[in-house]
Amino acid sequence: MSTSEARPRVQVFDDAEAVARGAAERFVELGQAAIDARGCFSVGLAGGSTPKRTYELLASEAYREQLNWSKVHIFFGDERCVPPDHSESNYRMANEALISRVSIPPPNVHRINGLGDAVANASLYEDELRTFFNPASWPRFDLVLLGMGDDGHTASLFPGTKALVEPRAWVVANWVEKFGAFRITLTAPAINHAANIAFLVTGATKAERLLEVLRGALDPEKLPSQLIQPLDGSLFWLVDKAAAGRL
Ligand code: 6PG
Repeated sequence: MSTSEARPRVQVFDDAEAVARGAAERFVELGQAAIDARGCFSVGLAGGSTPKRTYELLASEAYREQLNWSKVHIFFGDERCVPPDHSESNYRMANEALISRVSIPPPNVHRINGLGDAVANASLYEDELRTFFNPASWPRFDLVLLGMGDDGHTASLFPGTKALVEPRAWVVANWVEKFGAFRITLTAPAINHAANIAFLVTGATKAERLLEVLRGALDPEKLPSQLIQPLDGSLFWLVDKAAAGRL
């Protein structure tokens, strides 16, 4: 990473459970502050497997009552092109772990439609974001949660894919050759206008890539997680010792 960027804040926790707890605490802290300040908390959820425990904790006795869920608006950083009840659906994972277990009004859950024409669905989702964040020229999420794949991707911004260089759209349908499928994803500029961005990364399989992303040469085509540089916001990496093993 070039020296001109402020070094991201990397918090190393003992294990995945501690990362999940740390993430839940950050979520509640930022949520309370946003609701106190503006009466609303807009959060983009990450998919994959790592954040599931954080979502479960947020829905647990320990955290559920700490947020006024009627003031929370849930969005998604990306979605697979599958039905909402499919085992691969990011919505399904978040719904089972969190959404179905807290009193969030259904209109506050902004799901990406994974069925049908991916390009049209991406455009519809962008319309929904533009309506919510109107009249902003970019969405300013209070918090975007992200994971990092062991290939250095984040959201559905995969190495060598077209979405990596999208300068204007907020949401795109990104063709991912290795899956032979589209993914619908927020673009890097849409993520980078957030007030707070938090990566959750755990496990030894991520250690090598995490070193490259955080300490290696800037090469976002190969390491798309390096694209995530908030323009006017904070960036946190919540990682466990196993993932931080090479740092
Ligand atoms: C997805 C996610 C993706 C995920 C990483 C890490 O739709 O899969 O948006 O970016 O965060 O692949 O996934 P794990 O947390 O399962 O390692």
